[in-house]
Amino acid sequence: MVQAWQDFIDFTLFSEEQIQARIRELGEQISRDYAGKELLVVCILRGGVMFTTDLIKQITVPLAVEFMAVSSYGVGARKSEGEVRITLDLNTSIAKKHVLIVEDIIDSGHTLASVIELLKTRDPASLYVCTLLDKYSRREVEVPIRYAGFPIENHFVFGYGLDMDEYYRNLPFIGTVNLDKYVPPSG
Ligand code: PRP
Repeated sequence: MVQAWQDFIDFTLFSEEQIQARIRELGEQISRDYAGKELLVVCILRGGVMFTTDLIKQITVPLAVEFMAVSSYGVGARKSEGEVRITLDLNTSIAKKHVLIVEDIIDSGHTLASVIELLKTRDPASLYVCTLLDKYSRREVEVPIRYAGFPIENHFVFGYGLDMDEYYRNLPFIGTVNLDKYVPPSG
């Protein structure tokens, strides 16, 4: 059984309308910044997929999309040890390309730091980051963020790509979790 989100939500942090409005602004900004250039958007799976698909619809310069998946070795508290590995790599060369990495959330920064370190070795023309959420107070390693949708406090969040035990990514809004009410899926 998977619990209904209505049973554990604390409050709606960003509504569908707020998210989509911010994405339109980001799309306009990115389109201006990359005017006259072509873009390679690198979506970090799985959380980044909703944001990426909505964001690219708002970008007017020619672009291609690639996907990468990264996983932390540790879970829970051990995640902060910062060991990450690439579980799905890009299919194409990024040499001489303008690369924009798209993430749903940056927390400790370890995931992105590893991705940036790897992609830098492949000689892109430029390499920048766009994240929907920036949980800045949790940062353990500095990561350069060119585009950020919303800075957020240290809330436990779900929806719009962000999961709780792999569920709820499909919700069009972002909510905060009341951990006293959340029950992990069984079976
Ligand atoms: C989340 C998120 C980022 C990462 C951020 O992914 O999508 O990739 O954590 O955390 P960090 O800044 O502390 O490294 P997660 O590992 O939950 O995988 P998912 O995207 O498949 O849900």
